[in-house]
Amino acid sequence: MAVESKVSAERVHDQKPRDQFKSQLGFIFAAAGSAVGLGNIWRFPYMTGTNGGGAFVLLYLICVLFVGASLLLVEFAIGRHGKTNAIESYAKIRKGAKWIGFLGFFSAFIFLSYYSVVSGWTVYYSIQSFFGLNGLAPDQIGNFFGAFISDPVKPLMYHAIFMALTVGIIIKGISQGIEKSTKIMMPMLFALLIILVIRALTLPGAWEGIKWYLTPDLSKITGGVWIAALGQVFFSMSVGMSGMVTYASYLGKHENLPKTSIIVALMDTSVALLAGLIIFPAVFSFGLEPGAGPGLVFITLPAVFAQMPLGSIFSFMFFVLLAIACLTSSISILEMPVSYLIETRKMARTKAALLVGAIAYVMGIAVSFSFGIWSDFTLFGKGIFDLFDYFGSNISLPLGGLAAAILVGWFWGEKDAVAEISNNGEIKGTIVKAWFPVVKYVVPVTVVLIFLSNLGILKL
Ligand code: PHE
Repeated sequence: MAVESKVSAERVHDQKPRDQFKSQLGFIFAAAGSAVGLGNIWRFPYMTGTNGGGAFVLLYLICVLFVGASLLLVEFAIGRHGKTNAIESYAKIRKGAKWIGFLGFFSAFIFLSYYSVVSGWTVYYSIQSFFGLNGLAPDQIGNFFGAFISDPVKPLMYHAIFMALTVGIIIKGISQGIEKSTKIMMPMLFALLIILVIRALTLPGAWEGIKWYLTPDLSKITGGVWIAALGQVFFSMSVGMSGMVTYASYLGKHENLPKTSIIVALMDTSVALLAGLIIFPAVFSFGLEPGAGPGLVFITLPAVFAQMPLGSIFSFMFFVLLAIACLTSSISILEMPVSYLIETRKMARTKAALLVGAIAYVMGIAVSFSFGIWSDFTLFGKGIFDLFDYFGSNISLPLGGLAAAILVGWFWGEKDAVAEISNNGEIKGTIVKAWFPVVKYVVPVTVVLIFLSNLGILKL
């Protein structure tokens, strides 16, 4: 007994109080910062492009509404209730649920590895706005991009810069590092997107792109398109990996979680939709290929900038802001495993951040090579990038989200879960009322149906 109490006393003494977000606004910005990133501006347009346009957008919106938004609130609730890293937060609801956190822990490595590679591309593009990219015609931009990503060395340098920035911010800690950086940059990015939408919509032939983007051709819907839309929602809203559980664990008891989840969902969805409103009019106007894949945005946007006065300045501003948006997302990916290593494995913050960052960096080298010297290497018919991206977004995230919904809906129970999101009954309204049944029934049924339709067992 005596020994035990001595140990726990030391522990209390050793541990600094957990860092917390300083304000409700700070948390909203951090959560929105996590959500808004490559997912909205890079992945959403190319997924729309490879999955049939308007039909994909429709399924995407359905999944945001019925799955994504309520899962955001699920993760917020679990995290704030747990007040500790995601793995232990799940255990506080039910011992056997730790694995959901571990799934997120391993997915974080996968995501961080390729996220930082592609974010490195945005850093390169911001610099090249004034140099290599300046004044290129649309077909030359494709070659420029292709030559860059297939180079064995160059992308790795930008990958390293980006990873170092991510690790640096996480070493500084959550409130200092994250709260400040997002507050200025998010509104600026939004403003710049609006300017670009106006430019894109006034390009000759823009209307064809709008039609393709916003008119759903229902015959294009398949199980594969459903799972792509679902995976895109998880990726873009940062749910299913417990990143939002981790962030919410740094929250005080008085924040309004339902309101925050709605704001984040709206911001995230509107940025994605705006990105599409820039890309598709431009793709059709310049005669590019909507199904071009991961290069779509990197080829189309410079072509738009070339059509603007002061194009290289706009281009520079855009890619810098995008790189910052990527940073506010990548730090949320890194913080997830780091918080576990600090709190449960008793590692120092610096060491944990460096360790995870280094492993993800090495994994990222393989991802980067898969666009060039290793492009012939495939597993299950996919290259390394595609494999990481597919496994991460279409399997791991939906599985994590499904499990979290079942945990809350069927094991935590209505009374406790609703008490958490409503601050013990203080917050009322339709969202608070509708949330629990949606989490208990709608989310699991939708995700399972989409899984089944992707396996070809069911036709949706
Ligand atoms: N949501 C981020 C984006 O859209 C990526 C992300 C995925 C962040 C999963 C955290 C967890 O860019």
